[in-house]
Parts: sequence; structure tokens; C-alpha cells
Amino acid sequence: MPIESQTMSAAPSLPPAAPAAPAGPAAAVSAGSAGARIIAVTSGKGGVGKTFVSANLAAALARTGQRVLVLDADLGLANLDVMLNLHPKTTLHDVFTGKARLEDAVMTTPGGFDALLAGSGMAEYSRLTPEVRSQFLSVIEALTPRYDLLLLDTGAGISDLVLFSVSLACEVLIVATPEPTSLTDAYAAIKVLAMQQKRQHVRMVINQATRPGDGRAITGQLQQVLDRFISTESGHPMRLIHMGDIPSDPSVRDAVMRRHLLLLQTPGCPAALAIAQLANKIETTLLVPAA
Ligand SMILES: Nc1ncnc2c1ncn2[C@@H]1O[C@H](COP(=O)(O)OP(=O)(O)OP(=O)(O)O)[C@@H](O)[C@H]1O
Ligand SMILES: [Mg+2]
Repeated sequence: MPIESQTMSAAPSLPPAAPAAPAGPAAAVSAGSAGARIIAVTSGKGGVGKTFVSANLAAALARTGQRVLVLDADLGLANLDVMLNLHPKTTLHDVFTGKARLEDAVMTTPGGFDALLAGSGMAEYSRLTPEVRSQFLSVIEALTPRYDLLLLDTGAGISDLVLFSVSLACEVLIVATPEPTSLTDAYAAIKVLAMQQKRQHVRMVINQATRPGDGRAITGQLQQVLDRFISTESGHPMRLIHMGDIPSDPSVRDAVMRRHLLLLQTPGCPAALAIAQLANKIETTLLVPAA
């Protein structure tokens, strides 16, 4: 049993050191005060709610006047379009291959934010090739001056493509559920972000929480393990910042099945209220409040 696992009861079999993905310095596109903040929404395990959180968080922030774009950074298996019930004629792939202009691929959504969608089932975009890397970077650079916030809805895990898209962001939101498998994978991802991208902190959102206080306790447990085993370049342990919990709520599945935004379909349900609270925290801590 890896030594880390002995200290965290919620995740009894934490993995050993995560395999190093092809490195490269964190490429965070530094946005000046006039440019968008870039936040990556990522996770260790798949299916934990990244796309649901990204889309609804974007809607909540757009409501307050922020200019928000969600980019489907899950380039090989994109599904933001499915969740938003959009049928893009032009996608990010067409921009990458020079078949379309960036302007033509940006779609407006019913949530009041813009979306840049990727196609699905395109194996050539599931790997980080030098072409994908440079095209991705130029798209982000072109978008930055036009928005207050770019949310990157990444794939799950620690593939080089996921790590590259996360490296473009100044802030990272890790979505995890309270399940041990999700937490062990979250830990692995956080470890890679500390060691490979030299991040000093990441932000945690615990989705599908079943009890109040779940997220804070889980974040505390993960922090204890990090404090013991991972130190950042500065010599300080990586800091986990708990941003909020989203309860498990049947209205979420219902909204996803109907391909509606939860915030529009059931704005008063517990999960929608939690998203609004999370948006408020992000706006007050990470964004310049909209005029
Ligand atoms: N708070 C919640 N309450 C209930 N169900 C939820 C909640 N959040 C997410 N779900 C369910 O989890 C499913 C997966 O969510 P989502 O597609 O956003 O995950 P993901 O992390 O983006 O997945 P992937 O790793 O495949 O990109 C949703 O379709 C929804 O049914
Ligand atoms: Mg997703």
C-alpha cells in the first residue's frame, strides 16, 4: 500500500507517483488586467460533473454581467454541445485546420455566455501534437482580449493534452465527488500539478455531495496528505482552497437529459443555488466585478 494512503481514510489506496506526462513549463497565458482570466475546470476521474459545472457556472457569471466563454477543451471526446443542445456547424477543429475563422466557431448559448465547441470522436485531437499545441495556444491568445473569463472544460485525468490545457490557466478548479475513486484520482492530478506545473494552489469543488460539510472535510483530508508528501518549489506544501460543494440533486440529471441548463430549468433547486454561490465566490475572489 502506498505510504500516502495510510493517512487518508476516505481514499484507502492512493496511487503512487503519477507518471510524468511530457513536460513543458506551465504555459499560462498571462492575461493583463484587460484580458480574460483563464480558469481550467478539470478532474482526476471522468464523469464527475466538469461539463455540468462549467456550463452552469458560466451561466451564473454571465448573469452578473461577466463576458464568459466556455471552451470545450476535451478535444477528442467533446460533449459540451450535447449538454447545451447546440448543433455547431463549425467547431474548434475547423479553426485548427484553417477551414474556418475563430469568429465563426464561437456560438452564443441560452445561458448568456459564448461557447467554443469541439467535435467528438476525432482521434487526432486526443493527443497533444506540436500542431495541436500551437493551434490551441493561438486560439486562447485570440480569445483572451475579448472576454472577462475563459472557462476551459478539460477532459479528465493526467494525459498530456489535459495537462497542457490546464497549464494555460491561471487558476485550476478541480471537481471531485466524495467517492474514494474520485478522490484518489483527484489526488493524483493535484500531485502532478504541484510537481510538473509548480502550482502553489488549486481550488476544489466537491460535486454530488451528500452531506453538508462533506467538501470541507474532504479537502482537509487531501490537504493533510499533501502536507506530508508534496512540497512545491517554494518549499511550501501545495494549498487546496475549498470553493464550495454542490449537492447531489435529481434535477441535475433531469436537466442534462433534457439538454437544458440547470440554472434556467430549475433555478431554485439545491444544486442550482450551490452553483450560484460558487459563481459568487469566484467573482469576488478571482474576477473583477462587472460594472
Ligand atoms: N450535482 C449532481 N447531482 C446529480 N447528478 C449529477 C450532479 N453533477 C453531475 N451529475 C451527473 O453526472 C453526469 C456527468 O456529468 P458531466 O458530463 O458534467 O461530467 P464530466 O466530468 O464532464 O465527464 P467527462 O469526464 O466525461 O467529461 C451528468 O450527466 C449528471 O447526470
Ligand atoms: Mg465533460
